[in-house]
Amino acid sequence: MALPVVVDAEYLKEVDKARRDLRALIANRNCAPLMLRLAWHDAGTYDAKTKTGGPNGSIRNEEEYSHGANNGLKKAIDFCEEVKEKHPKITYADLYQLAGVVAVEVTGGPTIDFAPGRRDSKISPNEGRLPDAKKGVSHLHDIFYRMGLTDRDIVALSGGHTLGRAHPERSGFDGPWTEDPLKFDNSYFVELLKEDSAGLLKLPTDKALLEDAEFRRYVELYAKVIEINSNNHRVKFV
Ligand code: HEM
Repeated sequence: MALPVVVDAEYLKEVDKARRDLRALIANRNCAPLMLRLAWHDAGTYDAKTKTGGPNGSIRNEEEYSHGANNGLKKAIDFCEEVKEKHPKITYADLYQLAGVVAVEVTGGPTIDFAPGRRDSKISPNEGRLPDAKKGVSHLHDIFYRMGLTDRDIVALSGGHTLGRAHPERSGFDGPWTEDPLKFDNSYFVELLKEDSAGLLKLPTDKALLEDAEFRRYVELYAKVIEINSNNHRVKFV
């Protein structure tokens, strides 16, 4: 069992420095979407029942980053390694989640509270814990309920596709979900409710959010939100 991470003043200082380095790195390489995907794929293997997987840095193992769902993420892992070399105290688990937090922040999204202290693990889960984009509602239920998440969480998290794009050589899919894939806003939900528009992507799992009444309720709500304050509370509606 890994030792607990001691989050003392020194550790917090390192987190601050890493945050600054991540800001610069993400701006220079224009890689906010990839960093958010890295944070999510390290975390999205969590199994609440067995308390295995989850945000523990294990995606850095070749065994795990070579899982089909993780195609392309080695690049983000290497970017993070540059920050880890300068701030070795920080765990990979914290670093990858912090990269996701910074990615959302620098693209105009909310400032997400960051609570450090995640332990690293070298144990990678078996392949197949991340969602399969070709599947539908019941698959999303299976995958996200396994993590202990709710329907509302599933819809809110899917909004991560406001950033970035799919690459044919990575996933077989192609294109961005929104007109401005480097801006974090609610346009993913706005686009989802519109007819298909040329050049914009909707994965089968994105479309599934319209098929289930409970999911759709949240898609419609989030499509209306135009501003989110720093506590993630809705403050304005269209
Ligand atoms: C709901 C189930 C999900 C499925 C099936 C799914 C699937 C995919 C697929 C197929 C891609 C394209 C990868 C590529 O070709 O480069 C992608 C990209 C992406 N995903 Fe997801 N995803 C899901 C949930 C999430 C969540 C929860 C987040 C974050 C909160 C997220 C963030 C991203 C981002 C930012 C990209 C763009 C990466 C880039 O531009 O390089 N996804 N996702």
